[in-house]
Amino acid sequence: MSEAADQIFATLKQSSQSGAPLYLQLRKSIEDAVNRGLIGPGDALPSERDIASKADISRVTVRKAVQDLVKGGILVQRHGSGTFVAPRMERVEQSLSRLTSFTEDMARRGMVVRSAWLDRGLYAPSPDEMMVLGLSSNELVARVARLRIANDTPLAIERAALSASVLPDPAGIGSSLYAALEMTGNRPVRAVQRISAANLGDDDARLLEVPPGIAGLHIERISYLASGKVIEFTRSIYRGDAYDFVAELRLSGPGEESRP
Ligand code: GLP
Repeated sequence: MSEAADQIFATLKQSSQSGAPLYLQLRKSIEDAVNRGLIGPGDALPSERDIASKADISRVTVRKAVQDLVKGGILVQRHGSGTFVAPRMERVEQSLSRLTSFTEDMARRGMVVRSAWLDRGLYAPSPDEMMVLGLSSNELVARVARLRIANDTPLAIERAALSASVLPDPAGIGSSLYAALEMTGNRPVRAVQRISAANLGDDDARLLEVPPGIAGLHIERISYLASGKVIEFTRSIYRGDAYDFVAELRLSGPGEESRP
C-alpha cells in the first residue's frame, strides 16, 4: 500500500487540478486509486497525519475527504484499527424470468444462505394486505420478515405477508418460505414483480451494513397459485451495490401484439 499511497499523494501534491477545494481533490485521488486498482479491498489507508504530510495539506482536509469516502461506501473505518478500502461486493446477476426463491438463487451460485428473523407472527392485516391478499378485517395475516444473508453478506430485507389460512404457523417455515409452501401444495407458479429505486433509510442501511442513503432496490412481488389466487405479497429492499436484475427481451413474433 505504501508505494501506491506515495504515488497517489505525490500526484495530488503536484497537480494544480481545477482549483477545486483540496478535500475534493484528495477524495478524487483516492477514489481514482481504488477504481484503477492501485489500492484494493481491505488495504489500509495511511494515518491521517501521514496523508496530511505526504500530500502537504491539513489534517482537517484529510478528515473531510476520508469522511466523504466512508459515507459513499468506498472506505470503511474500523474503530481502533484504522481506515480501509471497503470490501468489493460480488454482484449477483438475477434473471427476471424465473420464479425462484432466495434460497434456490443463492444455492445455484454455491453461496451459503442464512436468514436473521426480524419478525414472524399472526397479525390483523393492514389495508394493503387486505386488498392484495383478499382478506377481510376479521381474518389474520401471517408475516415473515427476514434479513437474507449469503456468504455472510446481508443482501436483502424481505417482508412477506400471506393469509394465515395458508401459513398458520409462520415461525415454523424453517429456512425457506417456498420450501414450506411447497410442502402444503401452495408454492406459487406465477408472480408479478415491481422494482423501483430507493435510498436506504437508517434502519435498513444498518441491517444491510451499508452507509445510510445509498442506492437500493425496492422490490414488490405478488405471487399466484395456478388457480389465480394470490398466495404471497412480499416487499423487499435489496442492496443496490449487490444486484443486477437481468431480463431477456425478444422482438414480438408475427401475430403477437406488442404492448407497452
Ligand atoms: C425471493 C422473493 C420473495 C420470496 C423468497 C422466498 O427472494 N423475492 O418474494 O418470498 O424468494 O425465499 P425462500 O424460499 O428462500 O424463503
